[in-house]
Amino acid sequence: MEPYKLLDGKATSAQMKAEMAEEVARIKAEGGKIPHLAAILVGHDGGSETYVASKVKTCEEIGFKSTLIRYEADVTEEELLAKVDELNNDPDVDGFIVQLPLPKHISEQKVIEAIDYRKDVDGFHPINVGRMSIGLPCFVSATPAGILELLKRNNIETQGKHCVVLGRSNIVGKPMATLMMQKAYPGDCTVTVCHSRSKNLKEMCLQADIIIAALGVPGFVTADMVKEGAVIVDVGTTRVPDATRKSGFRLSGDVKFDEVAPKCSYITPVPGGVGPMTIISLMRNTLLAGKKEIYK
Ligand code: GUN
Repeated sequence: MEPYKLLDGKATSAQMKAEMAEEVARIKAEGGKIPHLAAILVGHDGGSETYVASKVKTCEEIGFKSTLIRYEADVTEEELLAKVDELNNDPDVDGFIVQLPLPKHISEQKVIEAIDYRKDVDGFHPINVGRMSIGLPCFVSATPAGILELLKRNNIETQGKHCVVLGRSNIVGKPMATLMMQKAYPGDCTVTVCHSRSKNLKEMCLQADIIIAALGVPGFVTADMVKEGAVIVDVGTTRVPDATRKSGFRLSGDVKFDEVAPKCSYITPVPGGVGPMTIISLMRNTLLAGKKEIYK
């Protein structure tokens, strides 16, 4: 049996980062506009704080301009919408994101729809989602875009394969299923979407050449659900308590890595798989926004 290979998101994203840094240096040297990403962070959710800090840091490393706008959790929807409007109209800001989740008293959908789709580097606006679903140029949300790039840069065969997507979220499951069925590379798969109400989920997984696990249930995918030689992409990043860590937690994927990996051809680690690819894909969208490559 061939040993499994890691789909190393850390290495792949580092390569993409170097490519983008080179491009920004060139833009700078030619006196062009430096791409500028703004991020709105509301409240003090631990995960959101970490993600946004990492986004800002990666901007600096690539040479982008970044602006972090913080609000306490009691900010009103009106105040937030006013800031979105301000960023929509700020010619220096090429793209911006509102980190989710938002506090319960604010409508996430209303905020997302208030963002100018031409600056929606998260790809959450219905115009971007709609354009993606019919294969038009658009901002593709960062996690699905990152997974596609990881498959592509590792030359994973996808044409005609059976891809099982676990999870149906707007951020990952739904766009992932759409993209994997698209007539493209990576893509051209037969796609099955399974979720918390699916029957025969194990049988479906056993039919899969590619499994993309995005349920947010630690250790959900076990060895008995995986066909020999399958490609496994683990999107899970649940914080589970761990007294041996300084932080008090560790990130747990949706896949029981130790027992599943020996059956796979390729598998993503957690951490160091999909996570770094997500952040770098947001940077890629920011670069595209800065160059006005998708929308004029
Ligand atoms: N929360 C979890 N993932 C994301 C993401 O990709 N973008 C934003 N804005 N919020 C998130």
